[in-house]
Amino acid sequence: MFTSKFFNISTGIILVSALLWYSSCSNPSSGTSTSPKTIKNYENYCAGCHGFQLEKFEKKDWMFGNNDEDLIESIVEGRPEMGMPGFKKTFTEEEVIALAEYIKQGIPDELKEEPETQDNIHKTDELTYRVDTIVSGLDVPWGMEFLPNGNILISERSGTLYRFSDGQLHKVSGLPEIFVKGQGGLMDIKLHPDYKNNGWIYFAFSAPADEKNEEGGNTSIMRTRLKNDLLYDTEIIFNGEPDTNKSYHFGCKLAFDKDGYLFFGIGDRGYREFNPQSLTNHNGKIHRINDDGSIPEDNPFVNTENAMPSIYSYGHRNPQGTDIHPETNEVWISEHGPKGGDELNLIKPGLNYGWPVISYGINYDGTTFTDITHKEGMEQPVTYWDPSIAPCGMIFVRGDKYPGWENNILIGSLRYQYLERVVLERYNVVHQEKLLQDIGRVRNVVQDNDGYIYVAIETPGKIVKLTPVE
Ligand code: HEC
Repeated sequence: MFTSKFFNISTGIILVSALLWYSSCSNPSSGTSTSPKTIKNYENYCAGCHGFQLEKFEKKDWMFGNNDEDLIESIVEGRPEMGMPGFKKTFTEEEVIALAEYIKQGIPDELKEEPETQDNIHKTDELTYRVDTIVSGLDVPWGMEFLPNGNILISERSGTLYRFSDGQLHKVSGLPEIFVKGQGGLMDIKLHPDYKNNGWIYFAFSAPADEKNEEGGNTSIMRTRLKNDLLYDTEIIFNGEPDTNKSYHFGCKLAFDKDGYLFFGIGDRGYREFNPQSLTNHNGKIHRINDDGSIPEDNPFVNTENAMPSIYSYGHRNPQGTDIHPETNEVWISEHGPKGGDELNLIKPGLNYGWPVISYGINYDGTTFTDITHKEGMEQPVTYWDPSIAPCGMIFVRGDKYPGWENNILIGSLRYQYLERVVLERYNVVHQEKLLQDIGRVRNVVQDNDGYIYVAIETPGKIVKLTPVE
């Protein structure tokens, strides 16, 4: 990490001494080779926007200057007005200086090569696939959605939305104010099932709380349309209540079922004692709404006094995966439990999934909060993970691109940094397999319009594609 001193660039002194330090240990004019670490930093954090071969820096009309101070300032502070993020929290002083030098110097012609696309071949129980990095230069990518033309919309938790096309990230503007704190920020993205005709795109995000509660926020859903990298026609169609001043357990993954209902989960927002078991608030629930935010008439609690009418099921801790079974149209979710209690649940209307009355887990500090795992009137998970994997993102595999994986569930593990394949026979888990081991914290998994699987990994954020090979 940088010392804060270094950032007091106005003093200039520290900077100059850093440059002196630099020139004393390397001589730029002699075309010194760049260290593998610098190249790796560049590939992980910069190449997504500036090109793996430094293409965008070659023959550049420098906007902010290319002497050492200018370059370092661009990297450290960013050029936020242009969509260039600052990296003061990411790199040490030495790393920034090395990156600046690398950019200036460029890649010597004799070392230029086609970008490496074939990262890795993975053999698994059913099939063999290749892993290619498709997008890099991200931090914590959250939602991913493929537009009909193959462009990818990518949300960063930090509140930035990108459209990825032709190998580059383009910033999309027009988002509403987002509460970025802890686990909160810009979350999932989903196209309307009839996107081609109506252009609606749905976003989950944490919205700043009202004036009464300056510290907090809660999960909201909006729909909006996109043109020329600008969002317009934005409508907030759902606002979670009440806000809490905790910055965790927001949910929130989105899924449309075959009837056009939108499902999503909100976590307990840090108040498990009350929220999940009470129908008077939105937190610790799975919700079902119509595509315009109105409430379906046959939602289970529409006639229950004081109940929030969007509630579809309750007693949840922090659902971080939502998908619809391709054949049965059933709603399945994965949820972050306590230590040793992450769950896979089949959701049915009006039912209570038991948090925090029943659980297979214990508190993260090792203390217990319940002795029971079963109770009349409370649902059992389809399976649970002990130790907890921190499940994030979940899909049923659709189509026939991955022979043997049809209708299997894929779930990301933030904690153990792999993708889990879960094979079901009706409601029983009959096989589990770890894919992409040690790939990094898996935040999301989606399929593109042709059925290929893409996985989002965080810090450094990148998106990889799984292509089956013979
Ligand atoms: C999310 C996209 C993105 C990422 C990631 C990114 N940049 Fe940038 N960067 C931009 C944009 C956009 C600009 C301004 C327009 C331009 O120069 O292309 C810019 C500008 C710059 C400039 C100033 C260029 C000038 O003309 O003066 C430098 C230097 C720079 N980036 C270095 C880096 C380095 C080093 C990294 C990785 C540590 C990085 N950038 C990561 C998008 C990005």
